[in-house]
Amino acid sequence: MSTNYQVVKERWTADEERVHYIYAGKCFKDLKTHPVHPVNLEGWECSRTSFDTGLEAIKPFLAEVPYGGHRDIPGRHKHYYEAFVYVVSGKGTIELWKEEGSQRYRFPYHEGSVLSPPLNWHHDHFPDKGSFIRYLAIINVPLMGRLIGRDQARGFDLTTGHPLRNYARSIPYDPEKVVIEKRGDDFPATYKGVWVEDLGSLPLSPWPERGGLGIGLELSANTTIGAHVVELPPGTTRKPHRHYYESFLYILSGAGYTRVWSEKTAEERYEWGAGDLIAIPVNTWHEHGHRSGKEPARYLEMNSRPIMEKMMDTGFVFKDSIGG
Ligand SMILES: [Fe+2]
Ligand SMILES: [Fe+2]
Repeated sequence: MSTNYQVVKERWTADEERVHYIYAGKCFKDLKTHPVHPVNLEGWECSRTSFDTGLEAIKPFLAEVPYGGHRDIPGRHKHYYEAFVYVVSGKGTIELWKEEGSQRYRFPYHEGSVLSPPLNWHHDHFPDKGSFIRYLAIINVPLMGRLIGRDQARGFDLTTGHPLRNYARSIPYDPEKVVIEKRGDDFPATYKGVWVEDLGSLPLSPWPERGGLGIGLELSANTTIGAHVVELPPGTTRKPHRHYYESFLYILSGAGYTRVWSEKTAEERYEWGAGDLIAIPVNTWHEHGHRSGKEPARYLEMNSRPIMEKMMDTGFVFKDSIGG
Protein backbone atom coordinates (compact mmCIF):
# COMPACT_ATOMS: atom_id res chain seq x y z
CA MET A 1 0.00 0.00 0.00
CA SER A 2 1.26 3.43 -0.85
CA THR A 3 0.72 6.12 1.72
CA ASN A 4 3.40 8.55 0.64
CA TYR A 5 2.24 11.62 -1.16
CA GLN A 6 3.22 15.15 -1.75
CA VAL A 7 1.33 18.32 -2.48
CA VAL A 8 2.41 19.88 -5.73
CA LYS A 9 1.40 22.92 -7.68
CA GLU A 10 0.60 22.34 -11.31
CA ARG A 11 0.10 24.97 -13.93
CA TRP A 12 -2.79 23.80 -16.07
CA THR A 13 -3.55 26.91 -18.01
CA ALA A 14 -1.56 29.97 -18.94
CA ASP A 15 -2.62 32.08 -15.99
CA GLU A 16 -3.84 29.78 -13.21
CA GLU A 17 -2.18 27.51 -10.71
CA ARG A 18 -3.94 24.71 -8.90
CA VAL A 19 -2.92 22.60 -5.97
CA HIS A 20 -3.11 18.86 -6.40
CA TYR A 21 -2.52 15.95 -4.17
CA ILE A 22 -0.34 13.40 -5.85
CA TYR A 23 0.16 9.91 -4.45
CA ALA A 24 3.25 8.15 -5.70
CA GLY A 25 3.55 4.40 -6.10
CA LYS A 26 2.55 1.38 -8.18
CA CYS A 27 -0.25 -0.16 -6.07
CA PHE A 28 -3.10 1.74 -4.43
CA LYS A 29 -5.54 0.09 -2.07
CA ASP A 30 -9.32 0.35 -2.24
CA LEU A 31 -10.18 3.39 -4.32
CA LYS A 32 -13.65 3.38 -2.76
CA THR A 33 -12.16 4.69 0.48
CA HIS A 34 -8.96 6.27 -0.83
CA PRO A 35 -8.64 9.96 0.20
CA VAL A 36 -9.68 12.60 -2.32
CA HIS A 37 -9.07 16.31 -1.85
CA PRO A 38 -11.27 19.31 -2.76
CA VAL A 39 -10.18 21.21 -5.85
CA ASN A 40 -11.79 23.93 -7.86
CA LEU A 41 -11.69 23.26 -11.59
CA GLU A 42 -13.01 26.15 -13.61
CA GLY A 43 -15.68 26.68 -10.98
CA TRP A 44 -16.59 22.98 -10.77
CA GLU A 45 -16.93 21.62 -7.30
CA CYS A 46 -15.22 18.26 -6.97
CA SER A 47 -12.47 16.38 -5.17
CA ARG A 48 -9.51 14.67 -6.74
CA THR A 49 -6.42 12.62 -6.23
CA SER A 50 -3.73 12.13 -8.84
CA PHE A 51 -1.47 9.10 -8.95
CA ASP A 52 2.14 9.30 -9.99
CA THR A 53 2.92 5.75 -11.14
CA GLY A 54 5.90 6.53 -13.36
CA LEU A 55 4.01 5.43 -16.49
CA GLU A 56 4.56 7.77 -19.41
CA ALA A 57 1.71 7.49 -21.94
CA ILE A 58 -1.40 7.04 -19.81
CA LYS A 59 -2.12 8.05 -16.24
CA PRO A 60 -4.87 7.60 -13.65
CA PHE A 61 -6.73 9.95 -11.37
CA LEU A 62 -9.57 9.57 -8.93
CA ALA A 63 -12.37 12.13 -8.81
CA GLU A 64 -15.52 12.59 -6.78
CA VAL A 65 -18.30 14.87 -7.98
CA PRO A 66 -20.99 15.83 -5.45
CA TYR A 67 -24.65 16.26 -6.29
CA GLY A 68 -24.92 19.49 -8.29
CA GLY A 69 -21.15 19.69 -8.59
CA HIS A 70 -21.00 20.17 -12.34
CA ARG A 71 -24.28 21.84 -13.07
CA ASP A 72 -23.27 25.46 -12.97
CA ILE A 73 -21.46 25.45 -16.27
CA PRO A 74 -23.28 23.06 -18.60
CA GLY A 75 -21.39 22.32 -21.76
CA ARG A 76 -18.20 23.79 -20.39
CA HIS A 77 -16.19 20.63 -20.53
CA LYS A 78 -14.62 18.76 -23.41
CA HIS A 79 -11.08 17.76 -24.27
CA TYR A 80 -9.02 16.15 -26.92
CA TYR A 81 -7.45 13.55 -24.80
CA GLU A 82 -9.06 10.13 -24.50
CA ALA A 83 -10.48 9.15 -21.12
CA PHE A 84 -11.59 5.73 -19.96
CA VAL A 85 -13.81 6.10 -16.88
CA TYR A 86 -14.76 3.45 -14.34
CA VAL A 87 -17.34 4.37 -11.69
CA VAL A 88 -16.01 3.28 -8.29
CA SER A 89 -19.03 4.30 -6.23
CA GLY A 90 -22.10 6.55 -6.25
CA LYS A 91 -24.94 6.88 -8.72
CA GLY A 92 -26.04 9.30 -11.39
CA THR A 93 -26.30 10.09 -15.07
CA ILE A 94 -23.69 11.22 -17.56
CA GLU A 95 -24.63 13.34 -20.54
CA LEU A 96 -22.63 13.34 -23.78
CA TRP A 97 -23.09 15.31 -26.98
CA LYS A 98 -20.89 15.76 -29.99
CA GLU A 99 -21.24 19.47 -30.58
CA GLU A 100 -23.56 22.37 -29.92
CA GLY A 101 -27.03 21.53 -31.16
CA SER A 102 -26.40 17.82 -31.69
CA GLN A 103 -28.29 14.99 -30.02
CA ARG A 104 -27.65 14.55 -26.31
CA TYR A 105 -27.17 11.07 -24.95
CA ARG A 106 -27.80 10.32 -21.30
CA PHE A 107 -26.55 7.13 -19.67
CA PRO A 108 -27.22 6.01 -16.10
CA TYR A 109 -24.03 5.04 -14.32
CA HIS A 110 -23.08 3.66 -10.94
CA GLU A 111 -20.51 1.37 -9.36
CA GLY A 112 -19.39 -1.07 -12.04
CA SER A 113 -20.18 1.17 -15.02
CA VAL A 114 -17.52 2.17 -17.55
CA LEU A 115 -17.71 4.78 -20.26
CA SER A 116 -15.52 6.84 -22.48
CA PRO A 117 -16.49 10.34 -23.64
CA PRO A 118 -15.67 10.31 -27.35
CA LEU A 119 -12.76 12.58 -28.21
CA ASN A 120 -13.76 16.24 -27.89
CA TRP A 121 -17.41 15.53 -27.14
CA HIS A 122 -19.02 17.66 -24.45
CA HIS A 123 -19.80 15.77 -21.30
CA ASP A 124 -21.21 16.49 -17.88
CA HIS A 125 -21.77 14.49 -14.70
CA PHE A 126 -25.11 14.55 -12.92
CA PRO A 127 -24.97 12.63 -9.64
CA ASP A 128 -28.36 11.61 -8.29
CA LYS A 129 -29.81 13.69 -5.47
CA GLY A 130 -28.38 12.46 -2.18
CA SER A 131 -25.54 10.68 -4.00
CA PHE A 132 -22.26 11.50 -5.74
CA ILE A 133 -20.09 10.00 -8.47
CA ARG A 134 -16.62 8.73 -7.62
CA TYR A 135 -14.70 7.58 -10.66
CA LEU A 136 -11.31 6.33 -11.74
CA ALA A 137 -10.18 7.82 -15.04
CA ILE A 138 -7.32 6.62 -17.21
CA ILE A 139 -6.33 9.46 -19.53
CA ASN A 140 -3.76 9.81 -22.30
CA VAL A 141 -2.75 13.34 -21.31
CA PRO A 142 0.96 12.41 -20.95
CA LEU A 143 0.99 11.11 -24.53
CA MET A 144 -0.99 14.06 -25.92
CA GLY A 145 1.12 16.44 -23.89
CA ARG A 146 4.19 15.15 -25.71
CA LEU A 147 2.46 15.42 -29.07
CA ILE A 148 0.74 18.80 -28.81
CA GLY A 149 1.52 20.33 -25.41
CA ARG A 150 -0.17 19.57 -22.14
CA ASP A 151 -2.27 22.70 -21.79
CA GLN A 152 -3.63 22.18 -25.26
CA ALA A 153 -4.29 18.51 -24.55
CA ARG A 154 -6.27 19.28 -21.45
CA GLY A 155 -8.46 21.59 -23.47
CA PHE A 156 -9.84 23.50 -20.52
CA ASP A 157 -9.09 26.76 -22.23
CA LEU A 158 -12.00 27.20 -24.62
CA THR A 159 -10.43 30.25 -26.20
CA THR A 160 -7.53 28.32 -27.66
CA GLY A 161 -7.13 28.55 -31.37
CA HIS A 162 -5.64 25.08 -31.71
CA PRO A 163 -7.24 23.41 -34.76
CA LEU A 164 -7.81 20.15 -32.85
CA ARG A 165 -10.20 22.04 -30.64
CA ASN A 166 -12.88 21.74 -33.30
CA TYR A 167 -12.39 18.07 -34.02
CA ALA A 168 -15.11 15.93 -32.45
CA ARG A 169 -14.67 12.24 -33.19
CA SER A 170 -17.37 10.43 -35.13
CA ILE A 171 -18.54 7.15 -33.64
CA PRO A 172 -19.14 4.43 -36.24
CA TYR A 173 -22.18 3.07 -34.42
CA ASP A 174 -25.26 4.26 -32.58
CA PRO A 175 -23.98 5.32 -29.11
CA GLU A 176 -27.13 3.92 -27.53
CA LYS A 177 -26.68 0.47 -29.03
CA VAL A 178 -24.42 -2.25 -27.75
CA VAL A 179 -22.55 -4.44 -30.18
CA ILE A 180 -20.81 -7.61 -29.06
CA GLU A 181 -18.66 -9.15 -31.74
CA LYS A 182 -17.45 -12.70 -31.74
CA ARG A 183 -13.82 -13.58 -31.57
CA GLY A 184 -11.40 -11.29 -33.38
CA ASP A 185 -7.63 -11.45 -33.41
CA ASP A 186 -7.20 -10.15 -29.90
CA PHE A 187 -10.20 -11.04 -27.78
CA PRO A 188 -12.61 -13.97 -27.36
CA ALA A 189 -15.40 -11.40 -27.84
CA THR A 190 -15.42 -7.62 -28.14
CA TYR A 191 -17.88 -5.15 -26.69
CA LYS A 192 -18.22 -1.99 -28.78
CA GLY A 193 -20.05 1.05 -27.49
CA VAL A 194 -19.74 4.21 -25.48
CA TRP A 195 -20.82 2.85 -22.13
CA VAL A 196 -21.19 -0.44 -20.25
CA GLU A 197 -23.66 -0.25 -17.41
CA ASP A 198 -22.29 -3.09 -15.31
CA LEU A 199 -18.95 -4.78 -15.86
CA GLY A 200 -19.67 -7.21 -13.04
CA SER A 201 -22.47 -8.90 -14.98
CA LEU A 202 -20.99 -8.59 -18.48
CA PRO A 203 -21.01 -12.05 -20.05
CA LEU A 204 -17.49 -13.38 -20.52
CA SER A 205 -16.14 -15.95 -22.97
CA PRO A 206 -13.51 -18.64 -22.47
CA TRP A 207 -10.06 -17.12 -22.89
CA PRO A 208 -7.57 -19.88 -22.14
CA GLU A 209 -4.59 -17.75 -23.24
CA ARG A 210 -5.34 -15.38 -20.36
CA GLY A 211 -5.99 -18.08 -17.82
CA GLY A 212 -9.77 -17.94 -17.62
CA LEU A 213 -12.60 -15.91 -19.14
CA GLY A 214 -12.72 -12.46 -20.67
CA ILE A 215 -13.98 -9.86 -23.10
CA GLY A 216 -12.40 -6.92 -24.94
CA LEU A 217 -13.81 -3.40 -24.62
CA GLU A 218 -13.51 -1.05 -27.58
CA LEU A 219 -15.14 2.15 -26.42
CA SER A 220 -15.89 5.30 -28.39
CA ALA A 221 -13.57 4.48 -31.30
CA ASN A 222 -10.59 5.24 -29.07
CA THR A 223 -7.27 4.98 -30.85
CA THR A 224 -4.89 5.11 -27.90
CA ILE A 225 -6.50 3.46 -24.86
CA GLY A 226 -7.57 -0.19 -24.91
CA ALA A 227 -9.28 -2.29 -22.26
CA HIS A 228 -10.49 -5.76 -21.44
CA VAL A 229 -11.92 -7.73 -18.55
CA VAL A 230 -10.40 -10.98 -17.30
CA GLU A 231 -11.84 -13.43 -14.82
CA LEU A 232 -9.50 -15.91 -13.12
CA PRO A 233 -11.29 -18.95 -11.66
CA PRO A 234 -9.96 -20.27 -8.34
CA GLY A 235 -6.51 -21.77 -8.66
CA THR A 236 -5.69 -20.23 -12.04
CA THR A 237 -2.90 -17.90 -13.11
CA ARG A 238 -2.24 -15.47 -15.91
CA LYS A 239 1.23 -16.75 -16.69
CA PRO A 240 4.36 -14.54 -16.68
CA HIS A 241 4.48 -12.28 -19.72
CA ARG A 242 5.46 -8.75 -20.70
CA HIS A 243 4.40 -6.29 -23.36
CA TYR A 244 5.41 -3.14 -25.16
CA TYR A 245 2.52 -1.13 -23.72
CA GLU A 246 1.65 0.22 -20.28
CA SER A 247 -1.28 -1.14 -18.34
CA PHE A 248 -3.36 -0.59 -15.24
CA LEU A 249 -5.36 -3.24 -13.41
CA TYR A 250 -8.43 -2.28 -11.46
CA ILE A 251 -9.73 -5.17 -9.34
CA LEU A 252 -13.47 -5.67 -9.74
CA SER A 253 -13.91 -8.64 -7.39
CA GLY A 254 -12.10 -11.50 -5.70
CA ALA A 255 -8.63 -11.84 -4.22
CA GLY A 256 -5.35 -12.32 -6.05
CA TYR A 257 -1.76 -11.28 -6.43
CA THR A 258 0.47 -9.69 -9.04
CA ARG A 259 4.22 -10.18 -9.33
CA VAL A 260 6.22 -7.61 -11.34
CA TRP A 261 9.91 -7.77 -12.19
CA SER A 262 12.45 -6.97 -14.87
CA GLU A 263 16.09 -7.55 -15.66
CA LYS A 264 16.86 -4.25 -13.93
CA THR A 265 14.41 -4.22 -11.03
CA ALA A 266 13.79 -6.57 -8.12
CA GLU A 267 10.50 -8.43 -7.96
CA GLU A 268 7.57 -6.68 -6.33
CA ARG A 269 4.51 -8.57 -5.20
CA TYR A 270 1.11 -6.99 -4.62
CA GLU A 271 -1.70 -8.79 -2.80
CA TRP A 272 -4.93 -7.35 -4.12
CA GLY A 273 -8.66 -7.27 -3.58
CA ALA A 274 -11.68 -5.40 -4.92
CA GLY A 275 -11.10 -1.69 -5.47
CA ASP A 276 -7.28 -1.84 -5.79
CA LEU A 277 -5.32 -0.27 -8.65
CA ILE A 278 -1.98 -1.62 -9.92
CA ALA A 279 0.34 -0.04 -12.48
CA ILE A 280 2.42 -2.28 -14.80
CA PRO A 281 5.31 -0.43 -16.49
CA VAL A 282 6.14 -1.07 -20.10
CA ASN A 283 8.11 -4.25 -20.82
CA THR A 284 8.20 -5.50 -17.23
CA TRP A 285 7.48 -9.17 -16.60
CA HIS A 286 4.32 -9.79 -14.63
CA GLU A 287 2.04 -12.56 -13.45
CA HIS A 288 -1.47 -12.33 -12.02
CA GLY A 289 -2.88 -15.15 -9.92
CA HIS A 290 -6.02 -16.05 -8.08
CA ARG A 291 -5.15 -16.06 -4.38
CA SER A 292 -7.81 -17.65 -2.23
CA GLY A 293 -11.45 -18.53 -1.76
CA LYS A 294 -14.06 -20.07 -4.03
CA GLU A 295 -14.99 -16.82 -5.77
CA PRO A 296 -13.29 -16.03 -9.09
CA ALA A 297 -11.16 -12.90 -9.32
CA ARG A 298 -12.24 -10.39 -11.96
CA TYR A 299 -10.18 -7.41 -13.11
CA LEU A 300 -10.39 -4.60 -15.64
CA GLU A 301 -7.20 -3.92 -17.57
CA MET A 302 -6.73 -0.54 -19.25
CA ASN A 303 -3.68 -0.11 -21.46
CA SER A 304 -1.88 1.88 -24.16
CA ARG A 305 -1.78 -1.05 -26.57
CA PRO A 306 -3.74 0.62 -29.43
CA ILE A 307 -1.40 3.59 -29.77
CA MET A 308 1.73 1.46 -29.36
CA GLU A 309 0.57 -0.86 -32.14
CA LYS A 310 -0.19 2.09 -34.40
CA MET A 311 3.22 3.60 -33.74
CA MET A 312 4.94 0.36 -34.67
CA ASP A 313 2.85 -0.01 -37.82
CA THR A 314 4.73 1.67 -40.64
CA GLY A 315 1.54 1.62 -42.67
CA PHE A 316 0.00 3.91 -40.11
CA VAL A 317 2.92 6.28 -39.91
CA PHE A 318 3.56 6.46 -43.64
CA LYS A 319 0.15 5.68 -45.04
CA ASP A 320 -0.08 8.98 -46.92
CA SER A 321 3.25 8.54 -48.65
CA ILE A 322 3.22 4.86 -49.62
CA GLY A 323 2.09 4.03 -53.13
CA GLY A 324 1.91 7.65 -54.23
FE1 LIG B 1 -13.78 15.09 -18.96
FE1 LIG C 1 -0.08 -8.08 -19.02
